Amino acid sequence: MKIAVLSGDGIGPEIIDQALRVLEVLRSDGLPIETESAPLGGAAYDQYGAPYPEFTQKICRAAEAVLLGAVGGPQYDKLDRPLRPERGLLGIRKDLGLFANLRPAVLFPELANASTLKPEVVSGLDIMIVRELTGDIYFGEPRGMRTNAQGEREALNTMIYSESEVRRIAHVAFGIAMKRKKKLCSVDKANVLETTEFWKEIVTHVALDYPQVELSHLYVDNAAMQLIRNPKQFDVIVTGNLFGDILSDEASMLTGSIGMLASASLNESKKGLYEPAHGSAPDIAGQNLANPLATILSVAMLMRYTFNNESAALRIEGAVKKVLAQGYRTADIFETGMKKVSCTAMGDLVVAAM
Ligand code: NAD
Ligand code: IPM
Ligand code: MN
Repeated sequence: MKIAVLSGDGIGPEIIDQALRVLEVLRSDGLPIETESAPLGGAAYDQYGAPYPEFTQKICRAAEAVLLGAVGGPQYDKLDRPLRPERGLLGIRKDLGLFANLRPAVLFPELANASTLKPEVVSGLDIMIVRELTGDIYFGEPRGMRTNAQGEREALNTMIYSESEVRRIAHVAFGIAMKRKKKLCSVDKANVLETTEFWKEIVTHVALDYPQVELSHLYVDNAAMQLIRNPKQFDVIVTGNLFGDILSDEASMLTGSIGMLASASLNESKKGLYEPAHGSAPDIAGQNLANPLATILSVAMLMRYTFNNESAALRIEGAVKKVLAQGYRTADIFETGMKKVSCTAMGDLVVAAM
């Protein structure tokens, strides 16, 4: 099990340290885990002058799975765009062909009161958001800033999807729905944007291959509202890169905190990059405050999706559940009556529970 480990920036190294301890438990119990570290994002810019340098690229290409913390920080926000940490993340996603981003918004029953929504709205929540990850306005050309013929500055991006890109993510989403409650909601803005009208047309066509799946469509503005109004109406959601980015952060709050939302980004051959859905949280970096559970739960996804090791995945998820049931909470999911713990202490507890 060759795993590249990219700590990244901000809270990245703090949360990855806890995830590495989880991997170490599995390794000492017999899994043939080999890890190799490399910088990504700002850390890579500092060391190599590029956010996804060749050194890192080589290690990630050779690995079967990549475990990532998060990238980015205010100190890098003024760099030329190609040098910024976020470009490193987009670069590795594109380089490894990681087009399918799975973001499970699952509420641990113990956290029903941690959500800002009423417990009865979120309890029992189990949504899988399938976000297309290597297309859309994130990568479309032309893009950039320029001065127009009237001498005024302007900026543009291009929202574009090819038929094959929509088709393959639709197949992934229908495949996942088949293994769940067989309900898929495709999110678009077909009332305004041609790109997503096209998306809707292709998804509707792919649906003919999956007659058992009940397909529905929502406009993204309505979907954002429905996620808060009645999130349990959803089983699987499939959407493009930009809408998926936004809706998955929104959905994370249904689980109690963005510090709980894991993710897997997969290519055609199940090679995957596993990372929490959240960012580098510069506001709490270096203070041992971050919630490491999204990253630890991403290790569970890594075991499940790349290595087909369901028992290791369940062992990690079971340990997280046990620690929550014991009443331990990092600050982001804390409520009165619970025991507040640091990032490293949460790591200790998960390791002990394993
Ligand atoms: P963010 O997700 O980093 O933080 C948003 C809020 O959530 C902050 O208040 C933060 O403290 C909190 N938070 C996030 N993760 C947490 C955790 N594990 N435990 C407790 N609290 C947590 O989003 P942002 O502030 O918009 O972005 C900060 C930087 O991260 C930017 O440079 C951005 O580009 C980058 N970013 C990177 C990724 C990634 O690497 N995948 C994802 C999103 C944002
Ligand atoms: C995410 C992040 C990234 C994205 C940024 C940091 C490039 O927000 O993984 O959700 O927009 O995809
Ligand atoms: Mn995001």
